[in-house]
Amino acid sequence: MTKKNNLPLRDSCDRKLTDLRISLIDQCNFRCSYCMPKEIFGKDYQFLPKKELLSFEEIKFLSNAFVNLGVEKLRLTGGEPLLRKNIPELIYDLKKLKTFRGDNVEVTLTTNGFLLQQFTSSLKKSGLDRVTISLDALDENIFQEMIGGKYSPKIVLSGINAAINEGLSVKVNMVVKKGVNHNQIIPMADYFRTRNIQLRFIEFMDVGNSNQWDAKHVLPSEEVVKLLNRKFGVSKVGRKTASEVAEVWNYSGGGTFGTISSVSKPFCKNCSRARLSSDGLLYTCLFSSVGYDLKKYIREANFAQSDEELAGNKRVLVEKLIQRVWDSRKDRYSEQRLTYKPKISERKIEMSYIGG
Ligand code: GTP
Ligand code: 5AD
Ligand code: SF4
Ligand code: SF4
Repeated sequence: MTKKNNLPLRDSCDRKLTDLRISLIDQCNFRCSYCMPKEIFGKDYQFLPKKELLSFEEIKFLSNAFVNLGVEKLRLTGGEPLLRKNIPELIYDLKKLKTFRGDNVEVTLTTNGFLLQQFTSSLKKSGLDRVTISLDALDENIFQEMIGGKYSPKIVLSGINAAINEGLSVKVNMVVKKGVNHNQIIPMADYFRTRNIQLRFIEFMDVGNSNQWDAKHVLPSEEVVKLLNRKFGVSKVGRKTASEVAEVWNYSGGGTFGTISSVSKPFCKNCSRARLSSDGLLYTCLFSSVGYDLKKYIREANFAQSDEELAGNKRVLVEKLIQRVWDSRKDRYSEQRLTYKPKISERKIEMSYIGG
């Protein structure tokens, strides 16, 4: 194992590996136009077969390896992670992992909120540190247009309320698509500001190959801030730590909001996140086309030793591989977006496959 004083790992651009985002499943009950447009993710779409998904034991094993290498925060994502059974049990076990500083690892969850209400109590009991809920509109028609389905935003709002009543720490993410939901910025801001919940406005990104991304649908965060300033008065706080994706702002009447400006103001130079797909591939960028098959290593080790030795050997092997991958990492897609010319063979991974 790596010596503690070498932790966390640093890549070829001196960026630390402190966060691991784990996709638990590539399926979702929503069909957001910016993520899983229903024209592409229709009833014939081939999702991963169940046997290809990492088991909870495998997720814990790999999380342990990443934590040994200096990761301090695990974020569970999807698709929609709550579609996977017994998530609270997984969280409970992940919370037992200790960081190299001796603290409990932080475990967080990103969900569309649809199933949240029924799980809030068990999630709280599991030790979950924080939950981030995606919600793009309060207006029912616009919400439905954004999520590509006939549900009501009230279901998500009930999930948010339940999480807060349970004492969970909550943030809300709103992807802004110019011409579709930008008129929801003020109502959403007002709703969450008065309830003291941090809403973060995310610029529509060109993740994957399916979402028909066009720069004309991106509303730069600067415009969002101008709108909010005119309505409520705002002042900038900035980032608490350099590697955070969101810049934080205060409303003059109290409360905060965030802006995530991956298109207009990329934050690659402090990117500390690795991503594990639900079938066990390691990706070092949201916009990657190639992953490293960690599952292969944990499913195919043929050592003739006792189980304990076997587990130890596998862990060393996997930790070495992760270390090699992170050492050589050079990704900075968002900074190169305008000049990057992908080869025809390069297919970016989908957001629903790798999580946000
Ligand atoms: P906390 O800071 O712990 O709340 O988590 P977070 O902000 O990292 O998590 P969240 O899932 O809420 O991330 C917010 C959104 O920012 C994601 O859904 C993505 O849309 C975007 N995002 C997160 N990480 C990256 C990244 O590394 N690159 C890019 N381009 N976008 C990212
Ligand atoms: N651009 C920006 N954000 C996106 N998300 C999903 N797809 C996109 C995209 N194309 C966000 C979701 C959710 C998180 C998992 O990622 O809204 O908050
Ligand atoms: Fe599902 Fe989230 Fe993708 Fe929407 S953004 S389709 S809720 S995974
Ligand atoms: Fe990190 Fe890639 Fe996003 Fe840049 S584009 S912040 S390198 S995930």
